[in-house]
Order: sequence, then structure tokens, then C-alpha cells
Amino acid sequence: MARLLVTGGAGFIGANFVHYWSRRHPDDRLVVLDALTYAGVRESLPELGDERLRFVAGDVRDQAGVEGLLRAERLDTVVHFAAESHVDRSIAGPRHVVDVNVLGTLSLLEAARRVWIEDGPVAHRFHHVSTDEVYGSLGPEDPPFTEATPYAPNSPYAASKAAADHLVRAYHETYGLAVTISNCSNNYGPYHFPEKLIPLFIVNLLEGRDLPLYGEGVNVRDWLHVEDHCRGIERVLAAGRSGRVYNIGTRNERSNLEVVEQLCLAVDAAFERDGGLASRFPEAPPARGERCGARIRFVRDRPGHDLRYAIDPTRLETELGFAPRVEFAAGLEDTLRWYLDHEDWWRRILERGSYREWIRRHYGEAGDAP
Ligand code: NAD
Ligand code: DAU
Repeated sequence: MARLLVTGGAGFIGANFVHYWSRRHPDDRLVVLDALTYAGVRESLPELGDERLRFVAGDVRDQAGVEGLLRAERLDTVVHFAAESHVDRSIAGPRHVVDVNVLGTLSLLEAARRVWIEDGPVAHRFHHVSTDEVYGSLGPEDPPFTEATPYAPNSPYAASKAAADHLVRAYHETYGLAVTISNCSNNYGPYHFPEKLIPLFIVNLLEGRDLPLYGEGVNVRDWLHVEDHCRGIERVLAAGRSGRVYNIGTRNERSNLEVVEQLCLAVDAAFERDGGLASRFPEAPPARGERCGARIRFVRDRPGHDLRYAIDPTRLETELGFAPRVEFAAGLEDTLRWYLDHEDWWRRILERGSYREWIRRHYGEAGDAP
């Protein structure tokens, strides 16, 4: 039986990880530490009872608080998701993102070192959830990122994650902390905060707003279903070698335009299949006799917009037996279905002042065109 600290567990991937892990490892104890920032949604977590899941509202930068938790709960594993995760917000305000992502990771590492090594030794694992963005941007013909690709982060967010990765590595080399790092590609799935491409465009369509595609929509991302991501982390925790880095991806490169067109067709088809959707979402294009694709608008590009990410997951597959299960078309359909079935979840977010303020500042008054 393991005792896990899941930081950022009220966020998109962290919450999916808690759902996944609690199904697969029902005897494990889970403690979620989350500051409930604008991106934290307490309701995304399952109700499992105090024996199995404890939620702690707190900041990963509070080193003393984390040390106290590690000791009081006798935790032996950290899975570190907590971060400021949005590239556009990191461009609008880099200092806070660096503070949380770099100093937050440093505080956690220090707490782990003091409790597990200095006051230990305790058998432990510190797993850091990182991103493919640390490797920079690929040209159209470049081979995908491997674990040996040199770091070349281009946004403040990516640079902060790269710095955090370096600190995690340094704690392994210097203090002998047992660490693993996973660098994964763009996730999609349930509980995804509607500021990121796929969930933003779903709620925009359902609310009758335009779809602001940056530049010419030619940028390529390598889409990974969040459950396959959790599956990959599970393999790393089970069999990953301490000090080692594992890329997680499913070889699923698509241009943004391709993804958005596929999403538009899926929404059109959902409205055709289910006559009730038009009355629930009267502003959505299919409810007004329009095709969703007509709502795509090419808008000002993101500064420093990375052209292409692609992950080579060979190490995870060959060393740890990782086998993804979710095919993109089915995963996208399921994701759309989840948003249609969980309107209360996303409407609560849309009503938050902080969300409306971000959309207004970033996309303009109409909410659809920077
Ligand atoms: P998210 O923004 O949805 O969630 C982040 C969570 O962290 C929120 O619940 C927030 O309240 C919490 N948090 C923020 N600052 C905190 C602090 N100081 N202390 C405690 N909690 C804090 O992010 P996500 O998309 O779920 O990403 C999770 C992790 O995965 C991040 O580290 C991100 O860099 C990484 N990642 C994400 C993706 C992706 O596609 N979403 C891909 C690769 C890597
Ligand atoms: O690659 C992994 C990364 O994926 C993670 O490390 C980040 O935490 C996560 O946010 C994500 O970063 P991206 O910048 O790739 O995700 P985002 O959903 O913001 O954008 C995906 C693509 O869509 C990107 O090329 C920018 C574009 N885009 C995004 C938004 C929000 C648009 O064209 N319009 C938009 O309104």
C-alpha cells in the first residue's frame, strides 16, 4: 500500500490522476495538496471518504506545511502536478508563473529531502510531471523529441518547467533523492479547464462564440488522452528507474486547424443525433442552422508560438511496457460527450469573475478575437 501526496490534484490532470489511481489502487492513501487557484476545481475530485482521500487547501511553496504533511501522513510518494500551466498567462505575467513552478518545486524538493533523507531514511519516490515544451519547437521534418533532446524552452512557462526539471535532477544527483520525471505532450479529456484549446472551443461553440485560432492554425501538437497520461505515470511509478526521464506520448500529431475542424464536425453530428441539444444550447451554431466550422476565426498569433511538438515514447514503451488505449477520434468524442453531460461543471467556471476577466483581457470584449 502506497501513501501519495498529489500536488495540484484539483487541476485537470491531477484530478484525472486521482480518479484513475483510486480506481486502480483502492487500498492506497491519497492526500491532495492544492492551492485552489483560478484553475483549481475542488468538485473535480471524487468523493472517496476520509480514509482514502484527504484534501488539503495549501500552497506547494509552503515548505513547512509540506514537511508537516509528509510526516503526519507518513507519505512515501509525491506526484507533483501543481503548476501555473497556461502558456498565454505566462506570457501575460511571467513572474508569478516562475515563482510557482520553480520555487514551488524547490520547496517540495526541500521538504522531501528533509523528511525522507535527513530525518529518514524512508523509502520514497518524488515524481515530477513535466512537459514536452521544455524541448522547444520542431520543424516540420525534424524527428520527435527523445529524452536526449537538448532543452530549448521558448515561453516563460516552458522555461519555468525546464528550471523545475533541472532542480529535480539536481536533488537526485546531489542529495540522492529518488526522483523520476515525465515529459508529456498536450493532454485532452474531462475536467480540462476551459482556457485551453479543446475545452475553450467546446464551450465557445455551445455558447455561440467564435473560435479564435492563433496565426494560420498550422501549429502542430501531439495529443495525448489524459487517461493514457495517467497510465504512463503509473508505469513510471511502478517500474521507472530513479533519476531517469520518460517521455509520454501516443504519436498523435495534428495541426490545430485539423483538431478544430474535427471538433466542429463532432459538435455538428452531436446536435444532429440529439434533438434536445438545440434547446439546451440555443446559441450554438447547429441550433441556428449553421455549421460549427463557420465560426473559425484566424486571429493574432501567440508571441513565440512553438510550431510543432512531437514525442517519441519509445523508452516508456520498451523499458516499462507502456501501451496507450485511447484512439484520438474516440477520445475527442468522449471528451465532447463529457462537456455536454457536465454543463454544471463548466458553467460554474464561466461564472467566476477571474475567468471572465481573463477572457475579456486576452480575447477582447466579445470573448472571441484577440
Ligand atoms: P491545471 O492548470 O489544470 O491545474 C493546476 C493545479 O495546480 C490547479 O488545481 C491549481 O489550483 C494548482 N496550483 C497552482 N499553483 C499552486 C500552488 N502554488 N500550490 C498548490 N497548488 C497549486 O494544470 P494541468 O493541465 O492539470 O497540468 C498539471 C501539470 O502537468 C502541470 O505541472 C503542467 O505543467 C503539466 N503538463 C500539463 C500538460 C497539459 O496538456 N495540460 C501537458 C504536459 C505537462
Ligand atoms: O505540450 C504540453 C503543453 O500543452 C503543457 O505543458 C501546457 O501546460 C498545456 O497548456 C499545453 O500547452 P499549449 O500551449 O500547447 O496548449 P493550449 O491549449 O493553450 O494551445 C494548444 C494550441 O492551440 C497552441 O498551438 C495554441 C493554440 N490556441 C490556443 C488557444 C487557447 C489557439 O489557436 N487559440 C486559443 O484560443
